[in-house]
Amino acid sequence: MKNFFSSVVGFVFTISMNSLLLFFFFLAILACTLEEYIKFTPIYEYMKEFVLLALKASTSEFNLNDIAKYEIDIVSEFILNTLWISNDLRRDTIVHVSMNGSKDPPKLLTLYADKLKGLQPNQQHIAKIINQAVKYKLKKDESKEIIPGFFVSKTPFEVLIKKKDNLLYLNKKGTHIREADIGENPMFVIGDYIGLPKKAERLLSNLKAKKLSLGKTMLFAAHCPIIIHYELDL
Ligand SMILES: C[S@@+](CC[C@H](N)C(=O)[O-])C[C@H]1O[C@@H](n2cnc3c(N)ncnc32)[C@H](O)[C@@H]1O
Repeated sequence: MKNFFSSVVGFVFTISMNSLLLFFFFLAILACTLEEYIKFTPIYEYMKEFVLLALKASTSEFNLNDIAKYEIDIVSEFILNTLWISNDLRRDTIVHVSMNGSKDPPKLLTLYADKLKGLQPNQQHIAKIINQAVKYKLKKDESKEIIPGFFVSKTPFEVLIKKKDNLLYLNKKGTHIREADIGENPMFVIGDYIGLPKKAERLLSNLKAKKLSLGKTMLFAAHCPIIIHYELDL
């Protein structure tokens, strides 16, 4: 009787342990699937994308003590102004910088605010992470995540914008932002201090991009995202 009782207990114990193991196994699979899902699904339905076409920004390692010489000051400021607000990030925003300076053009930086971790909102720190990104020798279709939410790839500007349906490019002579129909999931394309080259404007126009103005005053590229966010916040 005692033997029978202990075999029943043993049997029940083995079954319970196996079920428990199976439960944890499925839990682990569920967690992994969920993590992948969260990683690749934007949390926000309505995303705003900003593109800076930086014609001469360095695409190879640069001197962090002289970021202006490598035109990284504009890039860092643009990223800072596009993504940060007081004590938080604009989590519905993606920023791209198409870097086309020497020595390994093109390089595309892409930062997803909703996934970004470990980037401080100051120019010097952003420049430091950009320096880590541009030093990679990437193959044509390769993309590298430098820190969570911060990617570098070899995607050319033309390929990036051709993927989008709702393109708008910034130009003083366009429709004023208060009169324009921005639509959903817009991608705003902005020139650097040189301005958008004629070739880029022609391609944008062929892609049915809308020309958008922020008024009569010629602004710095890094001013534009703040004004656009402000107008869309109204
Ligand atoms: C410093 S500006 C370029 C100046 C350049 N010398 C030129 O004439 O185009 C940088 C970019 O910001 C955008 N931008 C500046 N002021 C703007 C305005 N008032 N309306 C629309 N876009 C503007 C444009 O995309 C421009 O290429």
